[in-house]
This record gives sequence, C-alpha cells and structure tokens, in this order.
Amino acid sequence: MSKSKVLFIMTGSIACYKACQVISRLVQNNCEVQVVATPAALKFVGNATLEGLSGRPVISDMYAAGNVMEHIHLMRWADLILAAPATANFINKAAQGIGDDLVQTLFLAHDFKRPFLIAPAMNKSMYTHPVTQKSLQTLREMGIEMLDSASGILACGEEGWGRLLEPDMILKSTLEALQKNASAASGSPSATSAASAPATTPSVKSSALAKIKVLVTAGGTQEPIDTVRVISNLSSGRTGVTLAETLEQMGFEVTLLQAHGSVKTNQVAHKEYFTSFKSLDEKMQVLLASGAYSHVIHAAAVSDYSVDSIEVDGSQYRPFEVKKISSNADHMNIHLKRNHKIVDRLRDYAKNKDLKVIAFKLTSHASADDKTAAVDKLFKSAHADYVVHNDLTDIDIVKRTHKFSLISPKATIPCDNLETLASELMQVILPKEAL
Ligand SMILES: Cc1cc2nc3c(=O)[nH]c(=O)nc-3n(C[C@H](O)[C@H](O)[C@H](O)COP(=O)(O)O)c2cc1C
Repeated sequence: MSKSKVLFIMTGSIACYKACQVISRLVQNNCEVQVVATPAALKFVGNATLEGLSGRPVISDMYAAGNVMEHIHLMRWADLILAAPATANFINKAAQGIGDDLVQTLFLAHDFKRPFLIAPAMNKSMYTHPVTQKSLQTLREMGIEMLDSASGILACGEEGWGRLLEPDMILKSTLEALQKNASAASGSPSATSAASAPATTPSVKSSALAKIKVLVTAGGTQEPIDTVRVISNLSSGRTGVTLAETLEQMGFEVTLLQAHGSVKTNQVAHKEYFTSFKSLDEKMQVLLASGAYSHVIHAAAVSDYSVDSIEVDGSQYRPFEVKKISSNADHMNIHLKRNHKIVDRLRDYAKNKDLKVIAFKLTSHASADDKTAAVDKLFKSAHADYVVHNDLTDIDIVKRTHKFSLISPKATIPCDNLETLASELMQVILPKEAL
C-alpha cells in the first residue's frame, strides 16, 4: 500500500511546537510528510526537530539552489496540503493572492483538486479582526477546509498567542480528508493507506534528539509486608508511560523505569522495572550515576512509608522474615518507617550535575494557596527545574480526564490533558540547537 503524501505548511506562530505533534502522528499513521516552513516558523521550531519528525529535509527558501520549481512540484506531489499553524499573515495574504514567499506561492499554485486544510493559530484580537474574518470567509468560499477552533480562540481571553486546534483533532480531520479524497478518486472506500493504518513508531530519529537521554519513572511502589502481601497505591503508571512513549516517538533516547504491574507498553525500547521504594531508589542511583541522562521525569508514585516490622499476636517480624503471615492471627500491627524523598536526592545521585529535574506533585482538594505552597516546597527541596502539579480534583476516572499544570519558577502552563502535557514537556526538553 502506498503512503499518503502530506505537504505540511508551517508558519510563524507560538503553536508550531504543537504542530510538531501532528507531524509525528501523521508519520505514525503511514503518511509521508514534507514540511515547508516559513522563516518565521523556523524561529519557533528548528530544522532538526522538523526533519527528525518527518524524515525529510525542510524546505523554506524558494530561491535556494534546487528549490526553484518546488512550488509546482510539491503541489503535484501532495495528496493533501495542511497549513498548521496558519498565521494571520499567511491567511490574509493567501486570501489576497499574494505570492511573495514559498508558502504563499504554494497556495497560489493550488489546483483545488486535492484537499487544502488550514488550522489557524493567533490571538483573539488578530482572529476577530475584520480583515482576518473576511479572509477566513474568502478562503472557505474557495473550498479551503478551515480547521477552526473559533470558540476556543474566543474563550482564551487574555491567554495570548497561539490557540491551535488540538493536535489529535487536526490529525483526525487530515486522515478523514485523505480517506475521503482517495475514496472519491478510486471509488473505493479503502483506497488510502492512511487513516485505517495502525499507528507505528516512526523509524526516523533525529540525531539531535537521539542524543538527549531522558529517564522517566512511572507507576506505584509496593512495600512488602511478607512475601505475598504489599502496601501499595492506585497509580496505574499511565502518565509516566505515555510521556515516555511520546518522547520516544519524537526521537529522544528514553529509559522507562516502571513499576511491575503498571500499564504495559511496547512503544518504549529501553525499559527497567522496580517494585518497592528501596528497589526504585537503588535503580535511580545506578542509572543516574552513569551520567548518561540529561533529564529525569519523575512521575512514579513513591510510598512515603515502608514496612518496618509486623507484630502478629505479640511476635515481631521484619518483612520477608515470615513467608506468609498466618491468616488466623487475632491481632496484627504494622509498623511503618518514613522513607526519604527520592526526588530530593536526584541531583546527588546524578553524575551529570546539569541534570534537569521534572518533578510531580499530587495534592488533594488543595486551595490555590496550598497548591502554591506544595509546589514551592518541591522547588526548594528537590531543586526541581519544573514541577508538574495535579490535584485529585483534576482527575476524573469515569470521564477519563486528567488536567495538569507545568510549572517553572517563571511561568505556569495549564495542560488540559496528558497529550498537551507531553507536548509542553517536549518543548522543555528540546535541545537548543533544535529550536
Ligand atoms: C512570540 C511570538 C508569537 C507569535 N505567535 C503568532 C501566532 O500565534 N499567530 C500569528 O498569526 N502570528 C504570530 N506571531 C507573529 C508572526 O510570527 C508574524 O506575523 C510573522 O511575520 C508571520 O510570518 P509567516 O506567516 O510568514 O510565518 C507571533 C510573533 C511572536 C514574536
């Protein structure tokens, strides 16, 4: 089955980083992606990221040697053209038929036989400006598909730049448009290889990203009582595992240190496992002592206490001292001992003294002040570079929703879901040369 060909136009918005996720997902969904980026877009994300994700050199300059006929060739090559994020500048110029750079000329070379999708991203004032509104209308009337998140943009109030439709929604619309177009061309509903194709991990890795080694912890510790019983928590490990998967897909070199019994993944090549607090602590020491890691994302749910001793009908035991404590005991007391905070020691464990620490803090029904205090405490004790905060009220197990805040000493980025957190974290970890 041949791959679907997507011409991906990227223009200069703060939302370019989000669009990187769309490129990655398209590749996973069996699409060939050719990125054409404006010089402004390349100020927000770098060639290394775009080439790493798409596996093809980025085209930007219309007059570069070898590029001079690209606007014609690329438009003939593509099954679909997607502009994401599309700036006000791009949209307004496109509506006026201006062709003063490669992406505008590509738009002018569009033959309207294949889908052309535009995902705008701009702040409220630019979006509601009469010129932009008129341009959006003009483009819609031409038959351009607008992947608009108008209500989202209007609702963002003073949030500022860059409300792009969520990457998953852009992906969905793109795959649907590809499928529809292929079906129309062949009369067959299954003509396209994209959309229906299972997601696979992209094989291309950017050398810049592959040099970045990230250690991600996930899941909950289990504190042994005897050889068959433990004290544990309800962490599934989903957050850490999803972050590890996303970073691996992006091309980072990831080690996932996950709890036995946490959610499984076959999308992370290098996995290690832990059970108890002690085993997690020891593994972290060994891994970080290697000096290999530049970042650690510590999402594991670590027990604050381990079992010190168990008193059964007046007799005292250490964990493991008895294989299985009798089920018939009348009186039992479990004595706990306080564990140290692993997160506070990561920098001591690390050979790389420039290690970037991304810590997690879960609070329970905390007030705004309590949340701030809890996060500040973690910044101080762990010398964390970032803290991902979530409160139990941010998690809805029934609706399967989970909100986070990615906090640095300078700013707080609200993340409505795990995918958004993953893409924000990717920005944090991206090497400078890829920006
Ligand atoms: C930090 C920053 C963020 C910006 N974000 C946006 C944006 O989200 N949408 C937009 O239309 N313009 C945005 N701009 C302005 C564009 O980058 C600018 O209009 C540029 O000329 C667009 O060029 P292009 O359309 O050729 O990519 C931003 C500028 C800066 C400095």
